[in-house]
Amino acid sequence: MTTESNEKNKTSAQASGLDGGQVAGEMTSEGDAATTRASFTLRSLLKMVRGGEKFACLTCYDATTARWLQSAGMHLLLVGDTAGEVILGFPNTMHTPLDFLIALTAGVKRGAPATLVMADMPFMSYQADDAEAIRNAGRFMTEGLADLVKIEVDRSFAGLVAKMSRAGIPVVAHIGSRPQHVKMHGGYYAAGKSAQSAIALLDDARAMIEAGAMMLLIEAAPAEVAEQIVRESTVPVIGCGAGSSCHGQVVVLQDLLGMSTWQPAFALPTAQIGGQIMAAAKIWMDRVKSGQLGEHPYVMNDAQRASFGATLKHRSAAIPRIEPKQ
Ligand code: KIV
Repeated sequence: MTTESNEKNKTSAQASGLDGGQVAGEMTSEGDAATTRASFTLRSLLKMVRGGEKFACLTCYDATTARWLQSAGMHLLLVGDTAGEVILGFPNTMHTPLDFLIALTAGVKRGAPATLVMADMPFMSYQADDAEAIRNAGRFMTEGLADLVKIEVDRSFAGLVAKMSRAGIPVVAHIGSRPQHVKMHGGYYAAGKSAQSAIALLDDARAMIEAGAMMLLIEAAPAEVAEQIVRESTVPVIGCGAGSSCHGQVVVLQDLLGMSTWQPAFALPTAQIGGQIMAAAKIWMDRVKSGQLGEHPYVMNDAQRASFGATLKHRSAAIPRIEPKQ
């Protein structure tokens, strides 16, 4: 959000009760003993954006990883429908099951209770019927412990976004390239590359903000189009292949960790964890082969060992040996 647009568009933030004057509860601790930092809330994030500080977001699908990402100080975690690809091995996100994603979201929040967690609503969990969409979004908030839900939209979803917001569900409007539309386009695509589609994207962004979206996420769009959306926006804008002007950036964690077979150019690996997994697996195989498994912690005391030996003597006499099957 630019300074000018901040000034110009204060009303939207004020309407959501999240304007600059109301950050008193920001960085509050929820009193969870396992929490290692004060809770990073939507207010904390808005304060960063207002201060011109960029925020970072990574996908996350499990509690253990979430705990590490929280320790790193990550601002926002996305339990993306990419879980269908990364965790379940589907070729695209259209197959990601609703219940599965709700369970993963709860796991991530349990692992990172002091981090803002955004849940992705999967294909067909919100497109068919508004009432069903609101109920499913509600499940992400209650069972899934999500702080925000994300849906892939264009301006035709404005009515749904308004209804969800009215129900108290903070919506992140994912615009631009929409991977759940991959079959419509015969593959992944970029958005806003023609002047006409760029204007359409600006209109989508505006419609979502007017409908009450708390944040926008722009995927795969030219930098100048995203820049204009950021300029016009009254809410934080997350980019995913949309250039550096966005207030926050998200990539798939496994891309960043060097675990994917392919990753987009804007998500180049910062580590080679795939290679480290292979190396660790090979060390384990060597240990198994050599029997060098480390210290064995489960021991019998002398009396039990003697009794066990005595019992075995009788038992081996009474019980026939099991011969291997031919
Ligand atoms: O599901 C996902 O991981 C996403 C991001 C790549 C934006 O939607």
